[in-house]
Parts: sequence; structure tokens; C-alpha cells
Amino acid sequence: MSGSEGLRANSSHFTLEGQPFRIQGGSIHYFRVPRAYWEDRLLKMRACGLNTLTTFVPWNLHEPERGLFNFQDQLDLKAYVTLAADLGLWVILRPGPYICAEWDLGGLPSWLLRDKDMQLRTTYPGFVDAVNLYFDKLIPVVKPLMFENGGPIIAVQVENEYGSYAKDDEYMPFVKNCLESRGIKELLLTSDNWEGLRYGGTEGVLKTINLQRLSFGAIHHLADMQPQKPLMVMEYWSGWFDVWGEHHRVFHAEDMVAVVSEILERGVSINLYMFHGGTSFGFMSGAIDLGTYKPQVTSYDYDAPLSEAGDCTPKYHLLRNLFSQYHSERLPEVPPPTERRAYDTVLIQQHLSLWDSLLFADKPYRSDRPVNMENLPVNNNNGQSYGYTLYETTVVHGETLHSGNNIRDRALVFVDRQYVGCLDYRTHELVLPEGKGERTLSLLVENCGRVNYGKALDEQRKGIVGDILLNQTTLKGFNIFCLDMKPGFIRRLMNSSQWKSDFRSSSTPGFFLAILHVDGPPRDTFISLPGWGKGAVFVNGQNLGRYWFIGPQHYLYLPGPWLRSGENQVIVFEEQKADIKILFAENPEHGKTIDVYKLPFCSLL
Ligand code: GLA
Repeated sequence: MSGSEGLRANSSHFTLEGQPFRIQGGSIHYFRVPRAYWEDRLLKMRACGLNTLTTFVPWNLHEPERGLFNFQDQLDLKAYVTLAADLGLWVILRPGPYICAEWDLGGLPSWLLRDKDMQLRTTYPGFVDAVNLYFDKLIPVVKPLMFENGGPIIAVQVENEYGSYAKDDEYMPFVKNCLESRGIKELLLTSDNWEGLRYGGTEGVLKTINLQRLSFGAIHHLADMQPQKPLMVMEYWSGWFDVWGEHHRVFHAEDMVAVVSEILERGVSINLYMFHGGTSFGFMSGAIDLGTYKPQVTSYDYDAPLSEAGDCTPKYHLLRNLFSQYHSERLPEVPPPTERRAYDTVLIQQHLSLWDSLLFADKPYRSDRPVNMENLPVNNNNGQSYGYTLYETTVVHGETLHSGNNIRDRALVFVDRQYVGCLDYRTHELVLPEGKGERTLSLLVENCGRVNYGKALDEQRKGIVGDILLNQTTLKGFNIFCLDMKPGFIRRLMNSSQWKSDFRSSSTPGFFLAILHVDGPPRDTFISLPGWGKGAVFVNGQNLGRYWFIGPQHYLYLPGPWLRSGENQVIVFEEQKADIKILFAENPEHGKTIDVYKLPFCSLL
């Protein structure tokens, strides 16, 4: 056998460079970790005894507008994979196009939904054409990094958990062909959970399984399906993700290590999902809908071996101990922890109401009927992807507003800019106060995150997706403002002279500005906003993500590399209840926790 042969699956174990090889992998998403910390996290991965990095590729970030591609800076996939190689790691690439991953629309760009007939994850021509254009750009970026070209990528995954979706028999062969026809020759894999395995996979591609426990004889099941093939747990769930309004999920270290240890003893390959979760910065977190819509939080700590801020947890140390038994040489030293600081509390200095900020948004779009955010004529006709959309019209009397489940996902309702109540995916009716003459009705609608898992992907249009009635009358004549709060908008806000200093005159929704002075080199920190309601935080223009008093997340990770020595601008966009203070902490507190074993959907795991 040749030494230059890549990963092969020709018998019950993998071979790499002609030698038996076991994948001991871990997932870290470059798009969830500040670039300045990629190296630290990958060094910690190596020091834990892992040999392979796996990462998804988020199409929505790489192609934010149709035909406009970005593989730079935080999205420099080539640099990330090259760094992994330099640090002695192999790489398994999971390019989707759908990735799930608790990421808005499972990583699919929202502009796909401008087509009202769109059928995501099928061979519907509009989807196929978009995937082809994307792969035309993506594959040339990664091809030079393949094993056959001297790079670290030893395998590529075809789609993700398609067995759980399985809407179109032609689709998986299409995705496989997308890779092969563009010259990908490395080993191809599919990845499915226990249930999905039945319908998952595609001809000539190695099946792998995703799980957390070894119940249901899951691994035997895989072995029976695929005799004389290497066994691999592609996603060994080291913890779990959190949704708003429920407890923080934990998976106890001892329970986890016992399963990992058994997997290793059986000679099975493994990838820890996540090894380090990081953060779904901005408005990127998704939602789960298994009957009830549940948006996910910003933190992707995942109770993983490395915490959100990159700390080595007890799980990490137990795993390192375990993996060290599978190495003949001593493992590399664990890099020192990254310093963090609890900066002094800062006070709000200025504020700007949402209504005043509209001057800095794009001109409103006038439409007789409401238009969902994806179909607004903004962002070079790619629509609005994320954030808030404000719909305004005129009403002449009170009575009851009926949203008929057309609000996605949550609307604060105002009459003459006074807050009167909230409509969301559960509450579809609201009584408006009586009043005289023409009054402005405003609905500030938040996209709380598109579903990333489940059958309802095609129904993830956001904003107002149908008519709103006032009693029996359909409301018409809307002015629609796109408030995606992208960096350009935040910059325009910063430079405006509209900010006011008297906090007593402040109103919500609004923007609240504070200055954080950093002495010496900036350090990581966590922001907390006790006394505030719900919103998002921007530091030096970077959107850190959402906060919400209902938790479970109460601390937003602020990476040191995004701060500078001296003055830093902190802007809080608050929907309903502002406070005067912003606090900083060295560590987050997770509040009430629940063991993943106790979750109702645990049978999936
Ligand atoms: C699945 C998906 C991942 C992720 C996990 C849950 O296995 O493949 O992208 O969503 O579930 O964290």
C-alpha cells in the first residue's frame, strides 16, 4: 500500500497513508470562535489527544447575498484548515449545503426563501442552481487542502442528517455529485442519528452515526447495516444546546466519559460534537421546532470540554486522561488559560429612541399588504435576512388585532408609538386601546431565529407573512423598515447627533450607549445586564448577540480581541426595559441546570 494514500474504509478499520487509523476527532466551528483564538482552541484540541478537526461550513455567511462571496477574515476557511494542519491535525470537512448546527435555517441563506415555491434540500431547480453556484466557489477554496494535494482534509461529509428529512431520493446523489464532479476524491461520509440512519446514506458513501448514549444497540445497528466497514460516531454529543426560557442543559462529565471510553474500547472512531462550541454571535442562532417553536440562545457553550470562552473544563481533563491512554507518546502541554477581567460597571451615557434611529435606516418600503422580510427590496434585492422589521400603518379605532399566526416570531405593538402589547407565535390577538382619529400602528417584529432542524424548513419566512386584521378588516398601507442592524447602520447611529444625555427622558425600544475604558491590553470578559429586558449588544460595532431576562443565558461573551485599549463603545438595543448599568464578569453563571438525560426528547439522543 502506498504511503500517499488518504483515508480509506475498505475493511473494519480505517487506514490512512496505508496504516490502520482511528479518527479521534472534535468539532470546532471557525465561525463561532474569534479568529484570534483559533490557534489557542486547536492547540487545546491537540493537547487533549485528538487527531482530527471537524467543521461545518455555513453557506449563509459565505454567500450573504446571491453571488456575493466572502472567504475572508473570520470566514477564512483556507487559513483555518491550514492552521489545523500546521498544528498537526487532520481535517474532516462538512460543507453541507445544509448543516443544522443550531444555526439560522441550518446554514442555508435566507434569500433562498424569496422564491415562494422553494423546496430546500431537494432537487427543486431553484435550490439546485443555488447549490451549484455556491459549490463552484467553495470547492476551489478547499480543493488545494485535500489530502491528495498535500493538505489535511482526509474526508468530506455529504449533506447532514438527510435521513431525518428524506424528502427527495435524488437529492443525496446530487450533493455527492456536486463534490465529485468538482474533483473531490477523498473519502465521502454521511452522518445520521439512529432514527435517520434508516433513510440516510447514499450509494458508495460510508455511513456514520450520531448519538449520546449507547442505547438501542446503536453501534451494532450501524455495523449490521454496513458489515466490514469502519465504525464511526460522527457526532458524539458532548453536551447539548440551550433554548430561551428553559434550564441550561448539562451532560455530566463522568457520564460522558464512560460512554466515550466504551466507544474507544470497541475500536470505534469518534468525533466530539462539540469539542468547543463557542458563540453564535449576532443573530445567527437558530431554533428547534418539534411541534413547538423554541429559539436558541446566543451562547453555544454546549457544556462541551472547552467552555464558551475556551476554558478547559473537568470534562476536558477527564478526556485528556482517557485519550492519553491511546497515545504512545506524551500529549503536548495544555496551553495556559486566557486571562479574563471583570471590568468595572459602566453607566449609560446617552440614548436614542428606536423612532429617532429610523432616520439612519434605509428608506421604508411602501406596500399595501405586509411583505415578509426575505422579500423586501433591500440588500441588493436579497431581502432582509436577520434582526427586526418595523411595520407601520394607520388605524382609526381600537378593537382587536388578529395576527392569525402571521407574526414570525414576536412583535411589540405600539399605537402612536406607545407600547400596547405583544403578539407572537403563541398569542395571535390583542385588543387595541380606544382613541380618536388616525393613529399610527407599529409592529416591531423580531426574527428570533429560523428553525434549523425539523421538516418545516420551507416555512421559515420571517417578519409578517400574511394579512393582519383589525376586527374583520384587513390592514393595508404599510411602511416597512428593515432593521437588520448591520455594522453600517450601527456606524451611522454612532455618528449621529441625535443621541440624548438625560436618562430620565429615555424610552424603549431604543439604543443605549456606554463607554468601556480598558487600561492595558484588552482581556476577555462577560457582559451581564441585570434589570434589562430583551435585546442585543454591539461592542465597537460587533453584534455580540441576544440577551433576554428569561434566561437561561444571562452573560454575553465579549472576546478581548474585539476590544481595544482605551475607549470602547457599548451599545445596547433594548426592546422594553432599560437600566442605567452594564456589568462585567469574569465567568458566566448558568443558573438552573437540567441533565440532558431528563429532557423529554432524550430518546433522540
Ligand atoms: C445534529 C446535527 C448537528 C447539531 C446536533 C445537535 O446531529 O447534525 O448539526 O444540530 O444535532 O446539537
